[in-house]
Amino acid sequence: MENAYAIPFRGIVEQSLAGMYVIQDEVFQYVNATFAGMLGYTAEEMTGMHLRQAVYPEMQEATIANFHRRISGEVPSIRYTTMGWHRNREPVYLDVHGSSVIYRGRPAVVGVGVNITEQLQQQEALRLSRERLRELAAYINTVREEQRARIARELHDVVGGMLTSMKLDIQRVQRRTEDPELKLIVSDLLLLAQESIDSVRTISEDLRPGALDHLGLHAALQAVLRQFSERIEVACELHAEDFDAQLSQPRATAVYRICQEALTNIARHAGATQVHLRLAGVDGWLQVEIEDNGRGLASLTPTGKSIGLVSMAERAREFGGSLNSRPGAAGGTCLILRLPLEDAP
Ligand SMILES: Nc1ncnc2c1ncn2[C@@H]1O[C@H](COP(=O)(O)OP(=O)(O)OP(=O)(O)O)[C@@H](O)[C@H]1O
Ligand SMILES: [Mg+2]
Repeated sequence: MENAYAIPFRGIVEQSLAGMYVIQDEVFQYVNATFAGMLGYTAEEMTGMHLRQAVYPEMQEATIANFHRRISGEVPSIRYTTMGWHRNREPVYLDVHGSSVIYRGRPAVVGVGVNITEQLQQQEALRLSRERLRELAAYINTVREEQRARIARELHDVVGGMLTSMKLDIQRVQRRTEDPELKLIVSDLLLLAQESIDSVRTISEDLRPGALDHLGLHAALQAVLRQFSERIEVACELHAEDFDAQLSQPRATAVYRICQEALTNIARHAGATQVHLRLAGVDGWLQVEIEDNGRGLASLTPTGKSIGLVSMAERAREFGGSLNSRPGAAGGTCLILRLPLEDAP
C-alpha cells in the first residue's frame, strides 16, 4: 500500500525548473523534461542516449572522465561547467552538479544541471559594453585634449598676434595726436587692447597650460595652486620632494587635469580653508593625494548629472590607475590617485 506520508519526489523532479538526470554505464537512464529540453530533445528521446551524444565534442573527454571519477568513488560529487551539445549542434553551457549513487544495485551518477548560456552571453555582452564605454571615455579625453591644445595655439598665435598689432597701431596713433579728446579715447582703447591680450593669454593658458609642455608637471601644478589660492583664498601646499619620475606627456596631462578638476570641486563644494597636494613615486607608481579640510565627500559614487568624479576616475583607469577617496586628516576629503609610472623598472 502506498505510504500517504511519502514525499512525492517524482512530481517534484518532473516539474523541476532545473534539469535532472541519472547516468549509468555512460548512458542516460533517466532525464526529466527540463534537462532534455535544454538540449532540444524530449525525455523519451534522451533516455538511453549515450553521454557523448549530449556533450559538445571538445568537452566529451573531460566530462566522461568526471563521470568515472565519481563512479570509482575518487570524488563523490563534482560541480563544474560543461558544454552540452544541442540537437541543433550548438553548444549549451551547463552548470552541473552530480554525485555517485547506487542505482539498480550498481554505481551511477545522479545530477542536476542548469542552463547558464544566456547568463554567460549577458555577462560577455556587459563586459564588452563596459570595455566600449571605457574606450569611448579614453577617446573623448584624447580628442578633448587635442582640441584644447589646438584652440589654445590658435588663440594665442592668431588672435593674440592680431591684438598685439592692434595695440602697436593704437600706440602709434597715441604718439601722433595732440587732440585731448582723441588722446582720451586712444588711451581707453589701449587699455582695452591690453585687457584683451591678457584675457586671450589666460584663456589659452587655461585650455592648454604652456607650463605643462615646457616646464613639466611640478611647475604646472605649482602655477595652478598659486592661481587657485589667490582666487578663492585657500592656503595651498604642494609637497613633491620624493617625486622625480619622468612621466609621459599624456600621463602628465591626466594627472594635471585630475588635480585641476579636484581643485574645482574643492572651490565649488568643500568650503575648505586648506589644501595639500602631495605627489610621490612609490615602487613604480605615482601616488597623488589631494586633501582638503572642508565638509567632506559623501561617496565617490556620483548622483544625478555630475560627471567630474566619473571622468577623473576614467582618466586614471585609462592608464591602468585608480582613484579613491578617504576622509581627510583634518576632516574634509582626501582623493587618492594612483598611476603606474611608464618607465618603472
Ligand atoms: N572636495 C569635495 N568636498 C565636498 N564634496 C565634494 C568634493 N568633491 C566633490 N564633492 C561632492 O561630490 C559631488 C560630485 O562631484 P562631481 O565633480 O562628480 O560633480 P559636480 O562637481 O557636482 O559637477 P561637474 O560634473 O560639473 O563636476 C559634488 O556635487 C559634491 O557634492
Ligand atoms: Mg566637479
